[in-house]
Formats: sequence, structure tokens, C-alpha cells
Amino acid sequence: MKVLVVGGGGREHAIIRKLKESKKIKEIYALPGNGGMYKDATPVAIGAKDIDGIVKFAVDNQIDYAVVAPDDPLVLGCVNALNEVGIPCFGPTKEAAIIEGSKVFSKNLMKKYGIPTATYEVFSDAEKALEYVKTGPIPTVIKADGLALGKGVIIAFTREEAIEAVSSIMTDKKFGSSGDNIVIEEFLEGPEVSVLAFTDGKVVKPMVSSMDHKRALDGDKGLNTGGMGTIAPNPYYTSTVADECMAKIFLPTIEAMKSEGREFKGCLYFGLMLTKDGPKVIEYNCRFGDPETQVVLPLLESDLFEIMKATTNGTLADCEVKFSDKYACCVIMASKGYPEKYQNGFEMVIPEKIEKDVYVAGAKYEDGKIYSAGGRVLGVTDVSTSLKSAIDGAYKKVEMIKFDNAFYRHDIGARALMATEEK
Ligand code: AMP
Ligand code: GLY
Repeated sequence: MKVLVVGGGGREHAIIRKLKESKKIKEIYALPGNGGMYKDATPVAIGAKDIDGIVKFAVDNQIDYAVVAPDDPLVLGCVNALNEVGIPCFGPTKEAAIIEGSKVFSKNLMKKYGIPTATYEVFSDAEKALEYVKTGPIPTVIKADGLALGKGVIIAFTREEAIEAVSSIMTDKKFGSSGDNIVIEEFLEGPEVSVLAFTDGKVVKPMVSSMDHKRALDGDKGLNTGGMGTIAPNPYYTSTVADECMAKIFLPTIEAMKSEGREFKGCLYFGLMLTKDGPKVIEYNCRFGDPETQVVLPLLESDLFEIMKATTNGTLADCEVKFSDKYACCVIMASKGYPEKYQNGFEMVIPEKIEKDVYVAGAKYEDGKIYSAGGRVLGVTDVSTSLKSAIDGAYKKVEMIKFDNAFYRHDIGARALMATEEK
């Protein structure tokens, strides 16, 4: 079988590696992929948002199955377009991807179906929003409605910050038309958990839970990033919490989407906060998380391709989704300066014996060498029998990788380890 994967980061590299384990797959193309993936897939210079280009490539090359990984093409209807030419896909249609594409949609969905989340107000008028934050509760959380490269959420701890956030999103259009509407919501507190779940629109099979580290610097300092590292499983996500999430959040969400005529198939990502009043949804993503995927998929023991096809065909109930009981840690190596300005183009040296544990997010290939090309450059994963040894293992591998201008956090998993030791 010939498979196409849309996307080009570390998440896509982790998906490709796992798909390669399936005997049924003969060839994998990555659109656009990146130069660091060349041993696992054929990178093709077609951008993830170039829907017409992706469809043309798929038809011309007789692709049997497509995996659409990033949010943008999903929200733009890449799955719809591929389905129209008869190519089955992993991922939701654009009608279902709106669960990530519009925060106003997802908040209204949760309200309508009684799914626990922060209380909120929606504004389309900057004046009214400003009036609200001048007297409303503080701290407060201000979110642009649409996609904003993971940066559309501002937590305001003072009234001045809240006013500034509303103005920058609604008046100055910091995130373009994504900020035409905003959600202002209650500030919640508690440990955060990411749960990715396979679904065929009828049943939900959650993957092992994980914990992201979104801030750029040690001690959760610095700017928000796409994610600087992950561990799995998340020690706060006990089996009691998991049962509560299944009953109050996961199944109700799948059923709500179906009732709305927006059946969701693919991977639904639940960003949860475990508050003193129980688990609440912080956000939904219509796709695998990055870098959550780089710890979750290495723990998957079942055949990923079979699971993906089962989500497409509506047969997930009969498909085995089994995870190992080990632990995983992924440390992201980024370019110094990320998530703001950074320099790259530096040669990367990755020892062969750890290549299989390295998921390349941004690299260029030239004459047998690879060069850093991007903010997040690569992720290094270790799987082990304890969280502590997985963390130590990941950092040992990080030390073995060389490229100029590299930077990474030194405390990935530290909070999780403390939580494990407290238990
Ligand atoms: P998001 O881009 O929606 O994942 O939000 C980014 C981060 O902002 C989350 O991972 C949380 O840490 C934080 N956040 C979002 N919503 C809230 C909220 N209602 N209360 C507290 N923190 C929040
Ligand atoms: N790591 C968070 C995300 O993929 O959105």
C-alpha cells in the first residue's frame, strides 16, 4: 500500500515511524515532510495547506490511504477533498475539525451538551469586550476564536493585561481574522493532562495520557511554545479520573458531534485540567498533539495502520488498541531564540545508534548531511520501565546530539516525577 502523510514536523515523523512497522505499507510520502525524515519516508515539496496540490499528488501517484496530521489542512477540508476523489483518510472532515478551528463553536458545544469546561462569554464587538474586562473577574483568560499557531490564548493576571489582550486581538488584529470573535473565560487551576483518543465517531479508545511542557524555559518560565517536551503516562491521570473523563467528557463529546451532524473520525485530543471540581476541558484539538505523539506512539503495541483504517471504516470497536505499561519522555531540542527570532542552517550530527529515537521536526537535507531548519528542530524520546529512567535516558541521548545554536529545557518530567514520588 502507498500511504501519504500530510505535515512535516516531529509529530509526523513519529506517525511515519510507527506506520513503517505495518507490513501492509510499502511506501510512505510526506507532504512536505522535512530533510531529517529521508530514511523513513519520501519528502515531497507540497505544502500542508496546498489542498489542490495534495489531491493532485495523491491521484497521480495512486495513493491508497492518507493521514492528515496538522490542524490547518484539516480545518481547510483536506480530508473532504481527498475523499471526493475516492481516497480514504485518517482525520476529521472540516465540518468536524471545527471543534479545534473555532473556540466559539467548541465552547457552545460544551455548554449545550453539559460537558464540563470553564464558564465563558463570547464577544464579536471590541467595545463590549473591553467593557466586560473592565469589571469582570481577574485573572481571566482571553482566547482568539480561530487558529493562531497555538498562541491565541492570553492569561491576564491584571485588568491592564486583560484590556491589552482584548485590544491586541480584536482591534490590532494580532492574529488576523482569527480574532474577529473572542472567548473570555474563567481562569481554572489544577494539573493539566493531555489525552489523545482514537475515535470512529461511535466508540472512543483513549491512548496513554501525557503531559506537555508549553513554556520555553526551565521552571515553566518564558513564552508559550508549541511544546518543549512531554512525558507519558501522566501521573495525575489515575484510573478513577480516566473513568470520570470517559463518562463526562469523551463519550458525551463524540455523541454531541454526531448529534450536530459533524461525526468526528480520527484522533481527538482532549486538553484537560483537573480542577478541585473535577476534570474540565481546556481545549479540543482535532488531531494528534506535537510533541505528545512522540511519547504516546512509541508506547503503542498494536498496529497503527489497522487502527487508523478502523477509525475511517467505523470498525474501531473490533480493533485492538493496546499500549505498553512502560514510560516515555521526549525532550525537544529547539533553535536558541524560539519561539521568537532564531538562526538556523547548522549541521546536525545524530549518532546512528540513537537515530530511531529521534523525531526530526525541522531539517534540510543536502549532500548526505542534515541542517537545522526551524524553531523546534527535533525531539528525542526514551522508553523505559520507570519515569525516572525514561527522563534520564532522554537527556543522555540529547547530550549525544550536536548542532550549533541548540537549546532545550532541563526539567522535562520533573513535575511529573515529583507527583509520582508524592503518591
Ligand atoms: P490552549 O492553546 O487552549 O492549549 O491554551 C494554552 C494554555 O493556556 C493551556 O495549556 C493552559 O495552560 C492555559 N489555559 C487555557 N485556558 C485556561 C483556563 N481557562 N484557565 C487557566 N489556564 C488556561
Ligand atoms: N502540544 C500541544 C499541541 O499539539 O497543540
